[in-house]
This record gives sequence, C-alpha cells and structure tokens, in this order.
Amino acid sequence: MKEQTEKSSFEGLSPAEIREINAEISEYEDKMAVSTEALKIIQKHRRWVSDECLVAVAELLELSPAHLEGVATFDNLIYRKPVGKTVIHYCNSVTCWMLGSDQVRERLCRHLNVEPGEMSADGEYTVLPIVCLGACDHAPVVMVGDELRLDITEDVVDEILGR
Ligand code: FES
Repeated sequence: MKEQTEKSSFEGLSPAEIREINAEISEYEDKMAVSTEALKIIQKHRRWVSDECLVAVAELLELSPAHLEGVATFDNLIYRKPVGKTVIHYCNSVTCWMLGSDQVRERLCRHLNVEPGEMSADGEYTVLPIVCLGACDHAPVVMVGDELRLDITEDVVDEILGR
C-alpha cells in the first residue's frame, strides 16, 4: 500500500529525475537544502518546471508547493514556462540599461519575432531579462545558454543568432 502511495505521489517524474533528486537528498540532512537543485534537475531533463512537476518535487522533498514556488520565483534561472533550446538572458540592470540593453533586447526580439518570454517559432530561442550578471564594466552583457557574452553590439547580436 505504501509503495502505491509513493508511486502516485511522484507521478509525472521520471525514474531518472527521482533517482537524481534522491542522490541530492542523500547529501544533506535537510531536504529543504535540496530545493533549488531538485528544480534544476527537472529543468535539465525538461527545460522548464511545470506546475505538476513542482508539486511532485514538493512531495518528494516533503515540502509545501508554496515553498518551492517561492524558490522558483526567486531564482531567475528556473523557468516556469516552456522555453526554447537556448535561453538568451539580457541584463537589464542599471549599467547595461544605460549602455544599451534596450537596443540589444529589441534587436534580439525583432530578429526572432518574439516578445521577451516567448519562444521563437522554431523552438530554438527564448529571450528573458535578468538582473546584473556581474560584468558591468563590459556592459551591455547577455548570457547565451551558459555562456556570458560581453560588450554586446548589434553585430554581436547578429552573430549570436547566426544571421
Ligand atoms: S548591470 Fe549588466 S552586468 Fe551589471
């Protein structure tokens, strides 16, 4: 009976996701410490974290969905809506804004025919804002996937998008 309950509780998570999250849990005394990493594991497998997955992870960690929602909201790199294969974050904090982040965003979005937060029609890209990336002396700055790109000009935007 217990086994059935456990199975249905984590319904929607793959065996690999459950295994990886359990491996993280084994590293810590407090399951709460695993919150961010567990959501990142889901995202690694699915690119984003759906409501259903968030609830299943909360049950696996024996935490409230509200707690995990708070974690996801606080972390700009956890996506709660579907995103493209590559997420391009443009820094919109003050130095980048003063040095042209609006133009960078407009050029990215115009080329991809999207608004910030939308996925391009080919499923390749999503453009999202992010707070200071810590490279203000090279503003404006974008992060393409995991790669930080500095001193962005319009030509660099074209190069990033392969156009
Ligand atoms: S303000 Fe953009 S990197 Fe700091």
